[in-house]
Amino acid sequence: MQKFVITGGVPLSGEVRIAGAKNAVLKQMAAAVLTDELCTLRNVPKISDVAILREVMGDIGFEVRRLNGDGLELHAGEVSWPFVPLEVGMKLRASFILLGPMLARFGRLILPNPGGDRIGRRPVDFHVAAMEAMGATIDYRNGYYFASAPPDGLRGAHIEFPTITVMGTENAILAATLARGTTVIDNAALEPEVDDLIAMLCAMGAQIQRTAERRIEVQGVARLRGTEHRVIGDRLEAETFAIAAATTRGDVTLNGIDPGHLGAFLEICDRLGLSYHADAAAATVVIRGAAGDELRAVDVRTDVYPGFATDFQAPLSVLLTQAAGASTIHETIFEDRLDHLRHLVKMGADIELLDERRARITGPTQLHGAEVGIADLRAGATLILAALAATGTSVISGIEHVDRGYEQIEAKLVALGAQINRIEA
Ligand code: EPZ
Repeated sequence: MQKFVITGGVPLSGEVRIAGAKNAVLKQMAAAVLTDELCTLRNVPKISDVAILREVMGDIGFEVRRLNGDGLELHAGEVSWPFVPLEVGMKLRASFILLGPMLARFGRLILPNPGGDRIGRRPVDFHVAAMEAMGATIDYRNGYYFASAPPDGLRGAHIEFPTITVMGTENAILAATLARGTTVIDNAALEPEVDDLIAMLCAMGAQIQRTAERRIEVQGVARLRGTEHRVIGDRLEAETFAIAAATTRGDVTLNGIDPGHLGAFLEICDRLGLSYHADAAAATVVIRGAAGDELRAVDVRTDVYPGFATDFQAPLSVLLTQAAGASTIHETIFEDRLDHLRHLVKMGADIELLDERRARITGPTQLHGAEVGIADLRAGATLILAALAATGTSVISGIEHVDRGYEQIEAKLVALGAQINRIEA
């Protein structure tokens, strides 16, 4: 098992290139299933989730090739075996995004119930209902969904999601692109990654429009063509590095990120009194943690986009330990996503869990190094941030979770002056 050894207290400074968004690229890889022509993705992050999905698509029978630099070339020719193994579904929930495009183009797929992970149950009932509304038959047996489309293909439907679901929206869009007739999706997600998928699909010839705030209409077409698409910057990685700069009182320039995707986070920075400069034209955000302003406590509530993203919540909690006064965090999306707080307490934070979705964080407190373990991706990033802010040395295990969603995180942090290295334990 690998661990990170981090000695904190060093103000970070310099520039970091934000990689392509994990939660965009995985869906765009699935979009390539919708055509027998070549698709090329640029700005693809070197993360293990991409490698896992690449392997699954290869086993199905598709060619997925890394190009030099940050490119990925995909060709979904013929299917040899439309199957996603259980162990993949457990590792990569996002593999469920193959359901829509596989039903739309090939009419069948056997895939596992991805199950929940540390942050909650995370069922896929909304995805299944949307596919059934479009005429698919989906039987659930021994942990697997056996999905098939009617012989004459999926048909357009009116889908209204009971609550906002990012991948549910994306699966429905992907399936609808080749369905017969029109599909209307209500209560659709607004995340930037959904819009980036729509942009790629439209470049492939799909007919997709947002016709009202949370309504998407898709006119099915007979076939889609290949395309080349550049993946948007990863707003979650950007927020992680922004917080690293702020908690170490450093100055860091984030390159390759659209500040418009960080709206809710930057609004919290304003309330915190954190100094920054956002430049949409240059696609950069400069975080000025060294400005020395004392951070002010804030109340934060996670919400669907454009609200404050649940994925931002854990990393932000480190910053709140450095703010003067009592801040509160309210996690409204997932039922079990505050587990990282107990590790921050172990590092000296003053945190009171009010219930399983709310906590009060009182600061500023000086964090100190500790030996901690990571249980999921965003909690992992959070512990790295805490270790960077703490005095002394921390040892963090379970870092394979971080490699899932952060490209070469220690190399990027070292380039900013951090004292972090990866050891074999
Ligand atoms: C996406 O997950 C992201 N993952 C998550 O990021 C992110 O936290 C989440 O959206 C919310 O923004 C990817 O895009 C790969 P949901 P998704 O469907 O689509 C419930 C990360 O760290 N629900 O929007 O799976 C669900 O339990 C990951 O990168 C159902 O009940 O999330 C949750 O409470 C973590 N039935 C709520 O909806 C369903 O069929 C929102 O989930 C689907 C979802």
